[in-house]
This record gives sequence, C-alpha cells and structure tokens, in this order.
Amino acid sequence: MRAELVTTEDIFNVISKTLGIMSAKVLSHGEIVAYIFYNMLKEEASYSDNELAEWTMIAMLHDIGAIKTDGTNVDLSVLETKNVWAHSIYGYLFLRYLSPVGSKADAVLYHHLAYNLHNQISCPYMKEAEYLTLADKMDVFMRTDIPGMERDYFAKKAGIDFSPSAMDRFNRAQKHFKFLEKLKTEAYREEMREIFRKVTFSEKQKRGFLEMLVYAIDFRSQQTVIHTMSTKAFSLEIGKLMRVNKRDMDALYYGSLLHDIGKIAIPLSILECPRRLTDEEMRIMKAHVIITDRILNGVLDEKVARIATRHHEKLDGSGYPLGLKETELSNLEQYVAVADILSALYSKRSYKEAFPPEKVKGILQSDADNGKINKEAVKAVIDNFDMITRNYETERNDTMERYKEILDQYDSIYQKFKVIDVKQYYRDKI
Ligand SMILES: [Fe+2]
Ligand SMILES: [Fe+2]
Ligand SMILES: [Fe+2]
Repeated sequence: MRAELVTTEDIFNVISKTLGIMSAKVLSHGEIVAYIFYNMLKEEASYSDNELAEWTMIAMLHDIGAIKTDGTNVDLSVLETKNVWAHSIYGYLFLRYLSPVGSKADAVLYHHLAYNLHNQISCPYMKEAEYLTLADKMDVFMRTDIPGMERDYFAKKAGIDFSPSAMDRFNRAQKHFKFLEKLKTEAYREEMREIFRKVTFSEKQKRGFLEMLVYAIDFRSQQTVIHTMSTKAFSLEIGKLMRVNKRDMDALYYGSLLHDIGKIAIPLSILECPRRLTDEEMRIMKAHVIITDRILNGVLDEKVARIATRHHEKLDGSGYPLGLKETELSNLEQYVAVADILSALYSKRSYKEAFPPEKVKGILQSDADNGKINKEAVKAVIDNFDMITRNYETERNDTMERYKEILDQYDSIYQKFKVIDVKQYYRDKI
C-alpha cells in the first residue's frame, strides 16, 4: 500500500486528464506552456523543487478560466488572441480564491498583458507573469493553425509585448536545456511528471488544487457548486458517524469531491434544466459517471476512483452505470450514494425546491426500506439530522460567500481591464 493515498503526481494527472476532456488543444497548450515556463524558471536556479512544481502547476492551469467562458468548446486561437481578458480574470480568481497559491495567481491574471503596459499595474510576481506571457505566446506561435502571426513576430515584439529579460531567459534556457527539441518528442511529458514525483505537496496544497479544479468546473452553475460541496460534506459526516478510519476518511474525501467531475462534459442546458429531463437528456446526464471514470480510472487509487464512479449504484442492482448489487459495493461507496441523495433532496435543484427535513428523512427511510441504499448510514443521518445539516449550512455559507466574491471581483477587474484593453489596442497607433 502506498504511504500517501493520493500523491502529488496523482493530482497533476487528474488535472491533465480533466483538461483533456475539456479540450485536447487546451491540454496540449497547457502542457507545453508549463514546460517552457518550467525550463525558464529552472535556468534561474533560484527556485526550490517545491516552488518549481507549484509554478509548473499554475502554468498548466493558466487558461483554466476558459472552463467558465468557453466550456468544453474552446477555440484556442480565439481564446488566446481575441477574448483574452475574461478567461484571464476567471483563471486568476479561481486560483486566488479557491486554491492554495494565493498572490501567485497574479501571474495568470496578467498573462495577456503587453509588456509596455506593465507600468499600469503592480504585482509581486511580475517576473513570473512576464515569463508566462512569453511561454504562452511561444506555444501559440508554434501552432501553425493560428492565423495572423508572422515568422518574425517575437523579434518585432520584444520590448513591446514581451519583456527583454523574459526573452533573454528563454534564450538562455533553450541554450542550456534544448527544451524546444524535447517538445518534439513525448519525452517532455515524462519530464513534467518527474517534477511532481520529486516533491510532496502538503495535504492542504493537494486538496486545494483539486477543489479549485472541481469548483471551477461547477462554477458554470451555482447549483452544481452546492451539490458537490454538500455531497462531500455529508459523506464526511456519515463517515465520522460510522467511525471510518483516517485513511478511509481520506478516501471518502477525495471520492466524494470528485464524484461529479465528469459533469465537465455535460452541457449547461441539461445541468440547469428547469424541468424533469427527457429520456434522451437523461441518457446524456447519466454519462457523467462514465466521464468521471475516464478521468480517474488508472490515475487514482482504485478505492477512491470507485467511490467516485459508483455513487449512482443501488443495492438492489437498479442503479447505473453498472447495475452493481450490495455485495459488490463497499461501505464507503454506499455512504457516498446516501450523501448524494441527501444532497439532492435537501438542496434546491434546477427542477425542484429544497424539501423540508421531515420529507427528506421520509424519502431516505423508504429508499433504505426498499433495499436501495445503506440502512445503517440512513439511520445515522436521520438520528443526527440537525447536527449534520447545521455543519453543512456553515460550509455552504462560506462557499457561497466565495462564489459571490468571485463574481463581484470579476466585474470590477473587468472594468479596469477594459481601460487597459483600449490602451493595448491603440498603443501601436499612437
Ligand atoms: Fe490565455
Ligand atoms: Fe494560454
Ligand atoms: Fe452524479
């Protein structure tokens, strides 16, 4: 058994696979930008392995805001040359407010800001922002399918769009590590993975990156944010009441946090549908567990992946996707299934209002009596209903505050960027 249930490398792999589901181009762009950026920082020889890994992860996620602005239908050339501010701001806000990187998120905020406008802003990580801007455009440049970029683009734009010191660092790093050659083979991917194999992120760092990823996906729809968060909170409450050991509590945490990550591939029109879904829509909705499986299977510990992918199975075999029976489902898998139903009943969803406590308890009890869900977990929930929901309310209010904060901040930052954007547009003409 591995010492760590979920390793730093696992976190990187889950992020990669999720970006790949979002769009193959966004994934390969993220990987290449992260790799160029990593080589530039490494060449400076002043970053610890942990810092290098954290920065590489940030670079990998630099376009994560596109989840909100473009969903799974990303056109990289439009994203990176025209609609540059919206995804930069969301990416920054997700990293700043939902992950453990704090003010380093500034580098993402400014990854499309021209060098000769840097006097308009102040940022503790300006150097990294400059490196990221260059790495980003370097990959966009290397993709021949982006129109309007001439061959002497970088030579012409040095000192205007790109900082001369970033250009200098790029050239030194290339001379030193020959990373552009490595990008032509698959070898660079293995080298990236190696970065995350060498370090051990704290539990807080690991959880923070994953929570950011999950909430960024859910951010498209407020009710989905609440659902993921409450399923996680209820799963942990049930785990505590059922006296689950520490390692299994960790499995419950990761499994329940990631249980609906596959919803990244489900259209918003279905996620937020204000009525009962048609059979066809339901078929699409049910595919989210298949996508969750595609992301997690072979990446995470099997126990954790199964908790995530089996939350719609029922003890009598009437669930999906596999129609497994009680004897085939672990206790932890059964607990998350109860938590998922509790969350759906207790919260407002697009197709229903929140149910009052007595109704929630009644439905859970009858599902348990009908042999569909774990009886002991249901008893624990009903016996401790007030305590469980009170703890959850606190967490929900906290999450909703952060959610609103992100929306407010988005508007105010966007206003500032609009002014900068006009300057960026006209500066060459003045
Ligand atoms: Fe971007
Ligand atoms: Fe980018
Ligand atoms: Fe689900």
